[in-house]
Amino acid sequence: MTDPLLLIDTADGVRTIRVNRPDKLNALNAATLDALDVAFADAAADAAVRVVVLTGSGPKAFVAGADIAEMNALTPVQGRDFSLRGTRMMRRVETLPKPVIAMVNGFALGGGLELAMCCHLRIAADSAKVGQPEINLGLIPGFGGTQRLLRLCGRAATLELCLTGAPISAERALQLGIVNRVVPAADLEAETMRLATQLAAAAPLALRGMLDCVNIGGECGIGEGLEYESAQFGLVFSTDDMREGTAAFLEKRKPAFNGR
Ligand code: COA
Repeated sequence: MTDPLLLIDTADGVRTIRVNRPDKLNALNAATLDALDVAFADAAADAAVRVVVLTGSGPKAFVAGADIAEMNALTPVQGRDFSLRGTRMMRRVETLPKPVIAMVNGFALGGGLELAMCCHLRIAADSAKVGQPEINLGLIPGFGGTQRLLRLCGRAATLELCLTGAPISAERALQLGIVNRVVPAADLEAETMRLATQLAAAAPLALRGMLDCVNIGGECGIGEGLEYESAQFGLVFSTDDMREGTAAFLEKRKPAFNGR
C-alpha cells in the first residue's frame, strides 16, 4: 500500500494538513493538487475545524515546487490545465472562510512558495529557504507566484526573486514581508500550534469577516473596500459571539465564543 499523499489530523479545532511525499521533497504532482483541493473543501465545510495548519512531511521541505518530472512531459494544453488545477486549489486556500497558517518547515520553492503565499499567515523555521526558481527550468511561476509576490512585497523583490531564481533565507523573507514570523526550527511546531490554538478560540464569524474584507477589499478600490468593511462590521452585530465578547469585557471575564 502506498502512503497517502496527505496526512490529516484534527485536535482542539485545529486541522493539520501535511503534504506527504518526503522522498520527493513534497513536490506537487497533479494527484497532490487534487488531494489538497478536496482536503481544503472538507476543512471549510467541517464546523469542528476552526483553523487549518498546512505543512510538509519530513525534515527538509515544506514543498519544493511543482513536480518537475510530471511537468517535463506536458504539452502546452496540459501545461495550461496543470496551472489552472493548481491555481483553482490555491484560490480555495486563499478564500477559505477560516484562517490557514503555513508552517514552513524547510524548502518552500516554486509551487511551494506559491502555496504558502495563499495561506493567511506564514511561520517559518530559521532553516527554511524560499524562492521562485522556475527560471532555472526555463519556466515561469504558474500557480500565482508573480501575482501574489507582487502584492506581498512589491515589484523590486518580486522581480529579484523571479528573475534570478535564487532562494533566500527565512530571515530575508521576513524582512521582505513574505513571512510573518521566523522561529528556531526546534520551536516551529510549538509556536505554530500556539498561534493556531489562539485563533481557534477566537470568534469564527469575526475571523471570517476579516478574511473576506482583506480578500474582497484587496481586489477593489479604497471606497468600495471601506463600504464592504462597514457592511461586514454591521453583519457581526447579528452574532451571539459579538454580544458575548462585548458582555464578557464589561463583566471582566473571558469570553466563550460558540461560532454563532
Ligand atoms: N519536483 C520533482 N521532484 C523533486 C522536486 C520537484 N520540484 N524537488 C525535489 N525533487 C526530488 C529530487 O528529484 C530527488 O528525487 P530522487 O531522490 O528520486 O532523485 C528528491 O526530491 C530529493 O531532492 P534532492 O535534489 O536530491 O535534494 P537536495 O537536498 O540535494 O536539494 C533542492 C534540494 C530543493 C535544492 C532541490 O531538490 C531542488 O532544486 N528542487 C527543485 C526546486 C524547484 O526548482 N522547484 C520549482 C519547480 S517549478
